[in-house]
Amino acid sequence: MKPSLFYVSFILFIINSGIASATQVVVKDATGKKVLNNVPYHIGPVTVAKGGGFKLTNTMNNKKICPYNVVQDPSAANLGDTFMFTLNYKRPKYLHTEGVVGIDSGYPKTGPCQKSTFWTIPDAEAKAPDNLVTTGGGFEEDITCFQLVEYPKPTNPKVHSYMLQHCPSFCGSGPQTCFNVSLYVDNGVRRLASRGTPFEFVFHKVPK
Ligand SMILES: *[C@@H]1O[C@H](CO)[C@@H](O)[C@H](O)[C@H]1NC(C)=O
Repeated sequence: MKPSLFYVSFILFIINSGIASATQVVVKDATGKKVLNNVPYHIGPVTVAKGGGFKLTNTMNNKKICPYNVVQDPSAANLGDTFMFTLNYKRPKYLHTEGVVGIDSGYPKTGPCQKSTFWTIPDAEAKAPDNLVTTGGGFEEDITCFQLVEYPKPTNPKVHSYMLQHCPSFCGSGPQTCFNVSLYVDNGVRRLASRGTPFEFVFHKVPK
């Protein structure tokens, strides 16, 4: 074996094992159960005082939009829509932090707007509305590329909470950085955007 090839493989091995072992953690829902990969869940804030779950909306500033946008329901009683987080690489049974995750909004298959597919940030470096989370992109494109991260200082240490990062370069071209997905309040409507204090959220199993 040529020494140079050996060293390259060895270094790649170290890098790969470092990524795989150091940071990936299985994601848990609000009750502490492991969250299944590629299965619909509700997501919402850690405490009901902070409002309800997330859902799609077909309006912005009283105008109809297509693809739909992702917003937070103001009422704590509402769990919102369901969203399917998908880790494609090695298709693990459960979601884990770190690594590319696509978020499918279960777009309407019929009706006037059939474009609302994966969560998308059209331009993470731009200002609103271009840096808002919308839908409409394809799977694992730079604009639909996210990862889950454990929330650094959880509001309630007993509840597993997460933040979402948008990492365009993990899926293709785009800025070589990750953007924290944060809340952006626009005319009283709580939307998600690519900049600011990372938004802390939890997963809720879909009630049977
Ligand atoms: C993202 O949020 C984390 C945790 O609050 C923070 O440490 C980091 O600096 C933020 N990154 C950016 C690019 O704002």
